[in-house]
Amino acid sequence: MSQYQTVCEQLQQIPKTWLITGVAGFIGSNLLETLLKLNQNVVGLDNFATGHQHNLDEVQSLVKPEQWAKFSFIEGDIRNLEDCQTACAGVDYVLHQAALGSVPRSIADPITTNAANITGFLNMLTAARDAKVISFTYAASSSTYGDHPALPKVEENIGKPLSPYAVTKYVNELYAEVFARIYGFKTIGLRYFNVFGKRQDPNGAYAAVIPKWTAAMIAGDDVFINGDGETSRDFCFIENTVQANILAATTQNDEAKNQVYNVAVGDRTTLNELFNAIKAALNENGVIYKKEAIYRDFRAGDVRHSQASVIKIQQYLTYMPQYNITEGIKNAMSWYIDFQK
Ligand SMILES: NC(=O)c1ccc[n+]([C@@H]2O[C@H](COP(=O)([O-])OP(=O)(O)OC[C@H]3O[C@@H](n4cnc5c(N)ncnc54)[C@H](O)[C@@H]3O)[C@@H](O)[C@H]2O)c1
Repeated sequence: MSQYQTVCEQLQQIPKTWLITGVAGFIGSNLLETLLKLNQNVVGLDNFATGHQHNLDEVQSLVKPEQWAKFSFIEGDIRNLEDCQTACAGVDYVLHQAALGSVPRSIADPITTNAANITGFLNMLTAARDAKVISFTYAASSSTYGDHPALPKVEENIGKPLSPYAVTKYVNELYAEVFARIYGFKTIGLRYFNVFGKRQDPNGAYAAVIPKWTAAMIAGDDVFINGDGETSRDFCFIENTVQANILAATTQNDEAKNQVYNVAVGDRTTLNELFNAIKAALNENGVIYKKEAIYRDFRAGDVRHSQASVIKIQQYLTYMPQYNITEGIKNAMSWYIDFQK
């Protein structure tokens, strides 16, 4: 049995109280689903900036009524310290996911991104520290590697940020480290690398590449590739990300705390390969997309290549990604086909 399975069994035997910020979003709602299925008590905080009630409704439809009864939702804003304090009261484990994602969004409106991602983060860190929670795990980002050319990305070697979004995620790490140093409040940052899976929003100007292309292919619309298509990413299926959060939150290993970890698979897929993989997976589900991709300019602020080393998280947190990109895409496609109906 893996350490992850053992942790999940232990949680079921002695349920804990979790706070998920950003619970109505993609990653937050997947964390919610898993934790409720493990019979945990969950408090969720969200202001619906980019999250949706329909994500919460879908989770409700996937868990038992008695599991859903263990969920309480607070509509609130992490930019407001009081909302954070209310949400943290009586909580064991915090999974802080709320933020404004997207590099282009942060370029268009750095002030709003800064408020949610830095002021909001500091509010949550302060509220969680004061509430004396057992652990605080937060969504960091691979964007923190910035212009550092090395591949694979190793946690201690970062470059200069390439976007306002990347600045905010790096500042989170700096605050986290200072809170450990000054207040003894040790946290864990998870640098996510292009997470994908069900409930990732396909709509809007700032949609991520997998849901955006999938929705376009299902609708028979054009698919645009920014640049020559040889830009690459370490695409990570949501179940791997959920595993990393649960292992980080529950770790008893003091050396594993006050650290940041890559959360990924350790593979690299180009956009051209991704285009063909989505097309093939849809084809298997009876959705035939006949068009070729349309190439356009590179996008400002984008990192050219990204691939993680996952050695550190394996070593300290016993993380073992359960899904590679092919398995993840297969899993996600059926959800997108149902969602578009
Ligand atoms: N999806 C990825 O590939 C990826 C990669 C790196 C990092 N991340 C980080 O993971 C976290 C979750 O991302 P996601 O993909 O689920 O995005 P998402 O947009 O689906 O979810 C973010 C959630 O946070 C909520 N939120 C935003 N501002 C808020 C505020 N001021 N107060 C309360 N709630 C607020 C939104 O309404 C939304 O429900 C974010 O911190 C993001 O930066 C995601």
